[in-house]
Amino acid sequence: MVENYDPFQAQSFVQTASSALPELDKWEQITEEEVQLVADMTRRNELSGGTPIVREFEKRWREWVGCRYSVSVINGTASLYSAYFGLGVGPGDEVICPVNTWICTIAPAVMLGARPVFCDVDPESLLADPNDIEAKITSKTACIVVVHLWGNVCDMDAVLHVARKHNLPVIEDCSHAHGAKWKGRMCGSLGIAGCWSLQGSKAVSAGEGGIMTTDDVEVFERACLVGQVNRIKGIDLVTERYTELQPLGLGMKFRAHPLGIGIALVQLGKLEELNRKRRAYIESVEAGLSRIPGLRPVTVYPGAERAGFYGFPVIHDPEKMNGAPTEVFVEALKKQGIAAEMRPYPNLHELPLFAKGFDVFTRGRGPLCPSQGYAGYKQGQFPGAEKAAAHTVFLPRLSNPIPNAAEVVLDVLERVARSF
Ligand SMILES: Cc1ncc(COP(=O)(O)O)c(C=O)c1O
Repeated sequence: MVENYDPFQAQSFVQTASSALPELDKWEQITEEEVQLVADMTRRNELSGGTPIVREFEKRWREWVGCRYSVSVINGTASLYSAYFGLGVGPGDEVICPVNTWICTIAPAVMLGARPVFCDVDPESLLADPNDIEAKITSKTACIVVVHLWGNVCDMDAVLHVARKHNLPVIEDCSHAHGAKWKGRMCGSLGIAGCWSLQGSKAVSAGEGGIMTTDDVEVFERACLVGQVNRIKGIDLVTERYTELQPLGLGMKFRAHPLGIGIALVQLGKLEELNRKRRAYIESVEAGLSRIPGLRPVTVYPGAERAGFYGFPVIHDPEKMNGAPTEVFVEALKKQGIAAEMRPYPNLHELPLFAKGFDVFTRGRGPLCPSQGYAGYKQGQFPGAEKAAAHTVFLPRLSNPIPNAAEVVLDVLERVARSF
C-alpha cells in the first residue's frame, strides 16, 4: 500500500484545476462507480485483450460520435499514429498541422517518416487558419490534421472546403473537445478520422488511453493492422483485403488496458454533466469579461458547440489595461489565488526539434534532416500563433464549480485588472 497518497505530489494527471482556489471546485473524478467496475473486472480477470467491456466502449463511442468504426488504443498519441498509418502516411509525405498544438498531434506522423508542415492559427480563436492551411499545401501533402484546441471547434466548413478542393483527407484531433459539435455533428466525424486522448486530465479519462473513429474501412483495417496484434480473428476485418495478415497484423501492439477502458466507459456516461457544468462556468466568466477592460473571450465560430473544455483561454490586451504586460497580469492573478498561466504548450516551431531539425532515424535519414532538405523554422513565421502565445491567459478550469465560482473569479480578475 502507498501511505498518504497525494495525487499532486505524485504528479498524477487529473481533470480539475490543480492549485489555487481549489475550494471553488467540487468535482470528484473517481466515484464508487468506477471503483466498482474496476473491482468487478479484476475479479473476472478481465485484464487483457479485447474484452467485452472494451468492445462495449468502442461500440458506444462510435455510436455516440456517429461513425461506423472505432478502435481503442493505449493513448491519444497511438490513436493519431493509427489514423496516420490508416491513411498510408509515410516517407516523402507532408502533413499540415497547426503550430500551437501539443507535440503528440504531429509526432506520430514524423515517426512514420512524414514531414510536418506547420500552419498558423487565428489569434482570436487559437484554431487553425484555413487560409494558411491552403497556403501550405504542396504536391507532397498527404493529409491535414486539425485540433479542436481547448474544446473550441475549428471552422470545419472552411477546413473541409480547402481539403475537398485539394482532395486531401482531414484528421480531427479531438483530445481537448470530447463531445464538441460543428453544426450539430459530432467533432471527430467530420473528417476521415477522429482521434481522442483519454489520458487522466481529459474530459473522458481512462487514466491512459485513446480511441480512433472512422467511416473509412481502409483506414479502420489499417489502424487495426498496425496496433491490434492478435485480436480475435475476424473482429478487425470488414473486407477480405488483409485476411492473410490476420490475426497478427503487422505485429505492433497499441491495445488499451481493459481496466482503463472500463473507467472511460463510466466516464463517458458522466460527460454530458461535466460538459454542462464546465460550459455554464466558462460562459458566465466570459459574459462577465465585458466589465473588465483588457480581457476578452476567445472567438467561437458560428456553428461551433464547444465541449471538453480542456483549457480556459481568454485574450489579454495590455493596451486596455494601462500597458500591464500579460506576464505581469498573470503573476498578479496568481498572488490573488487564481491559478492562471500562460503558454501551457510551446509553439512547435520554437522547439529545437522542429526549429533546427533532428536526425530522427540516424545516419542522415528522416523527415527532419537538414541534409534531406528540411528547412526548419524561425521566430516570426507564425504571427497569429506568436501573438496568441504572448497574450493568451489560461484561467482555472473548474469541473463542478460551487454556485458563485464565476463571480469569485470575475471579482479577482476585475480587482487585479483595475490595479494597473
Ligand atoms: C491535442 C492533443 N493531441 C494529442 C494528445 C496525446 O494524447 P495522449 O497523452 O493520450 O497520448 C494530447 C495530450 O494531451 C493533446 O493535448
